[in-house]
Amino acid sequence: MKIIAAQESKINTVDFDNLEFGEIFTDHMFVCDYADGKWKTPEILPYQPIQMDPSSSVFHYGQAVFEGMKAYKDDADGVWLFRPDQNFNRINKSSERLSMPAFPEKFFFEGLEKLLMLDKEWIKKGTGNSLYVRPFVFASQAGVQATASNAYKFMIICSPVSSYYSGGEVHVQVAEKFSRAASGGVGFAKAAGNYAAQFYPTSLALEEGFQQIIWTDASTHEYLEEAGTMNIFFRINDTLITTPTSDRILDGITRKSILQLAEHLGIKTEVRPVTIHELISSKENGSLKEIFGAGTAVVVSPIKGFGYQNKRYILHDLANSYASLLKEQIIDIQRNAIEDPFGWRHEVK
Ligand code: COI
Repeated sequence: MKIIAAQESKINTVDFDNLEFGEIFTDHMFVCDYADGKWKTPEILPYQPIQMDPSSSVFHYGQAVFEGMKAYKDDADGVWLFRPDQNFNRINKSSERLSMPAFPEKFFFEGLEKLLMLDKEWIKKGTGNSLYVRPFVFASQAGVQATASNAYKFMIICSPVSSYYSGGEVHVQVAEKFSRAASGGVGFAKAAGNYAAQFYPTSLALEEGFQQIIWTDASTHEYLEEAGTMNIFFRINDTLITTPTSDRILDGITRKSILQLAEHLGIKTEVRPVTIHELISSKENGSLKEIFGAGTAVVVSPIKGFGYQNKRYILHDLANSYASLLKEQIIDIQRNAIEDPFGWRHEVK
């Protein structure tokens, strides 16, 4: 791997007490080009703009996928990643669905670890602080022919974060018309276009006073599938429920970790479809205690209320919320503050 270190760090210009999610990037980036049927020698370079031909396939056909991961620093300055093997497997699954070449495991881990070691000053200690790591792949072939590209770029960039969606209560609108994913489509992949397609419906929901959308299945709009960019969880009585993964649903790493952790803590879990009708009747009979989203960026995001067919439903605050318990425990495992009985933590050296 070729490494060119930045001449000077930008770190002193950053106000770490007032970080907005994903706005500031560290001093270095990882880049690897694919051409002539193979991935070339990877490089770590000073963070900088890249030059692209205006006809590059990604701009026209959206052939691009990404991942989100987090690196944490413990009190003894150890640097940790959370289940990075899962992100590696998933980016290649996403790439396969978008007809893009798999990225070699050795390049992924060497690039990731060297990058984190170069930029480790950017990872701050303490609850809520982490470095959001964004691997992504896109089609870079010049030309507007509508076929899979023959050239790609795999990159990793990193952004320091404190917490995401930290500001205020989250109310969600249950989708009655728009869809995020359809059977046979790319909903399970972290395809860039899945996120682009959410922006417009989400902006309409924002105008109506919601912060996010609960996505429902494309054919009946009855089954609750995801919460914004996150997987969705419900607590009905004391059972934690999440919807099964499918080709419409992202196989979330936080989602599967929460399921495993909840079972370990003695919480009853169910993986099964949940309809809007069940949600409303459980709200009305008092058994619906919590709804929350789960994803890498925010870990767990409690949902305070939902709207459906012009009606608003508000959940009561709970003293012993599963959302708070699970969030705290997952973050403590991630940042090496408690035991990790699952072997999820990966030390970066
Ligand atoms: C996550 O929840 O980790 C996401 O995928 C959100 C990201 C698009 C910012």
